Amino acid sequence: MDNTRQTRTIAVCGKGGVGKTSVTALMVKLLAKRGGLKILAVDADPSIGLATALGVEVKKTVDDIRNELIAKVKKGERYDKSNISEVLNMLDYEVFDALSEDSHFALLAIGRPESSGCYCQVNDLLKDIIKSLSQGFDVVLIDGEAGVEQVNRRVMKTVDDLVLVSDTSAKGINVVSTIKHVAYDNKAMACQRVGLVLNRVRNEEEVNKILNKTTLELLGWIPEDDYIREYDFDNTPLLKLPDTSPSNRAVEHILETLAI
Ligand SMILES: Nc1ncnc2c1ncn2[C@@H]1O[C@H](COP(=O)(O)OP(=O)(O)OP(=O)(O)O)[C@@H](O)[C@H]1O
Ligand SMILES: [Mg+2]
Repeated sequence: MDNTRQTRTIAVCGKGGVGKTSVTALMVKLLAKRGGLKILAVDADPSIGLATALGVEVKKTVDDIRNELIAKVKKGERYDKSNISEVLNMLDYEVFDALSEDSHFALLAIGRPESSGCYCQVNDLLKDIIKSLSQGFDVVLIDGEAGVEQVNRRVMKTVDDLVLVSDTSAKGINVVSTIKHVAYDNKAMACQRVGLVLNRVRNEEEVNKILNKTTLELLGWIPEDDYIREYDFDNTPLLKLPDTSPSNRAVEHILETLAI
């Protein structure tokens, strides 16, 4: 794999149930449709919602690989500097195996987030593997776990753009404001841009009211979309959403604003 390309990494975060997975899936759909871009979709939510939204079957999560390695460590296999490259090669192979390849994008599911403290060696090796794997792609899109916790996790360390999704509720806006504070102001993430996407909006008036209450930069807003409701109802992957649907158009506009 070519490891010299410039990778743009975008993480999508926010409160539970606000539309993170839908927004990420639509971004993957639109970027894949352009053709010519190597796209890696990372499902960082343990419930593996992005894989479902993209209609991809996950064979193995990073957590599965971690558990296999931990079992080897328990059996007495030691991983120190003398065999580190051997382990890296093995992990590389395993991680590629875990990638669900679609014709237009690859998907890597993280599974359960790493437990801190124990097996740091295994976690650190996996972090390196994910990093080098990402470098082979033009765009990496991460569908985050709900809430604030994850911005401190390793998978989020190399993010360029943090897309904060909220519905129009005060709770949703509070959560994204806290994420921005932890990730950006406290420098937990090295991201260059943080912006807000308002989802399930009824009209522009709602957007303006929220903008009066927050200092977050608006990347765009997505209306309540009956297509998404319908696809959700039938369990149809959002990849098949018509280009003319309101949410599809709105996400296209958001990608333009992000200059992706
Ligand atoms: N613009 C929209 N119009 C209509 N329904 C929407 C819209 N955006 C999201 N939904 C619906 O809202 C629900 C939550 O969306 P989604 O799963 O994308 O949120 P999430 O933030 O990823 O949730 P979780 O925190 O559980 O991972 C889903 O049923 C989805 O179909
Ligand atoms: Mg989700």
